[in-house]
Amino acid sequence: MTRGLRLKHCYNTRDFRMLAKRRLPSPLFHYIDGGADDETTLRRNTDAFESVDLVPKVLAGVDDVDMSVTVFGKRLAFPLFFSPTAMQRLFHHDGERAIASAAEKLGTMFGVSTIGTRSIEEMAALTSAPKLFQIYIHNDHGLTSDLIARCKQARFDALALTVDTVVAGNRERDHRTGMTTPPQLTPKSLLSFAMHPRWTLNYLFRQRFDLPNISSHTGVGSKVQASIIDYINGQMKRAIDWDDAARMVEEWGGPFAIKGVMSVDDARRSVDIGASAIMISNHGGRQLDGSRAPFDQLAAIVDAVGGRIEIIVDGGVRRGSHVLKALAMGATACSGGRMYLYALAAGGTAGVERAMTLLRDEIERDMRLMGCRSVSDLSRSMLATRGVVNYHAGL
Ligand code: FNR
Ligand code: LAC
Repeated sequence: MTRGLRLKHCYNTRDFRMLAKRRLPSPLFHYIDGGADDETTLRRNTDAFESVDLVPKVLAGVDDVDMSVTVFGKRLAFPLFFSPTAMQRLFHHDGERAIASAAEKLGTMFGVSTIGTRSIEEMAALTSAPKLFQIYIHNDHGLTSDLIARCKQARFDALALTVDTVVAGNRERDHRTGMTTPPQLTPKSLLSFAMHPRWTLNYLFRQRFDLPNISSHTGVGSKVQASIIDYINGQMKRAIDWDDAARMVEEWGGPFAIKGVMSVDDARRSVDIGASAIMISNHGGRQLDGSRAPFDQLAAIVDAVGGRIEIIVDGGVRRGSHVLKALAMGATACSGGRMYLYALAAGGTAGVERAMTLLRDEIERDMRLMGCRSVSDLSRSMLATRGVVNYHAGL
């Protein structure tokens, strides 16, 4: 079935995933696709959306729909944006440029990771699309401060502090495939690189691998053959606390998200320290396995802090209807990683644009089918609870 699969045959996240699997050497595919331990949380993040059904309003007289939302002080044309993800040039040589270009074209926002493969400055010069920088607190305080100063200088719109990665998750697929950063030819990975000559030639002969946001400080960027796990465990401050976060809110002084909040108490504390947003997230099931799904925590968090802080549901989004469910439950917007990373690997800029356009069109079509003219028409009365079904069974 997948033999002749091409970008133009991809209609949903599953299709892009299949194509990515064919295009990437296995260490890279499984780095994107995998999660921690038994991958229970990875599966639940998406399955959670199936625990409620949409109940549409008919004969609602809806013609044009306005999907726009405001997050981080920016108006987005639709309520879904690109979460920050590491090392995008390893998945396709277009890398972060592909995401920036799709964000600009479609009128949404994108995140740039501390462990990105293009610099803060390059991304800022490339596009005026709304952009968020994802930051970790490093042991090297100078590096953390320097990143904030660079983002200010480059006029990034928002900062997101990731708090769920104080140690690296146990991603067993990466151990099995021999995933390293940058990729190395090892007995385990050799065959896979040899079987994907297009990827391997691009990797060898295009721009050299680098992590330009951190390499000047750590030397890890291009020189050290370290896995991302070693980087997280060696360079990031383990004992981060609320004082660290509060200091960063102050130092940044603009729209600020805490990425990785899962509990009602932590959502309240995020309000207390002056964060403007929380990203309810378990890092796409890559960190604490057994953690609850963001969507399952949403209602309680909205009830506690809704209206006082922007609430972004990050993780598990594979369909436009998932976004509608989150917004009906009270989220401000959604964000996601794999929904566009598979497409990046499958087809670079064209792939990312196609994937995000399909998702945007689903949101728009579903709003019409739900009888909603704007996102404010979505409410909990349009959701009904049911038992969980296994969405992943078909993946
Ligand atoms: C991530 N994510 C992530 N988060 C972050 O704060 N900094 C990072 O560098 C990365 N890198 C990264 C790489 C890859 C390959 C993936 C899949 C994810 C997590 C990301 O921002 C987001 O939280 C999840 O991707 C959300 O889950 P879904 O949408 O992939 O289900
Ligand atoms: C990951 C780290 C880099 O999820 O955030 O792989």
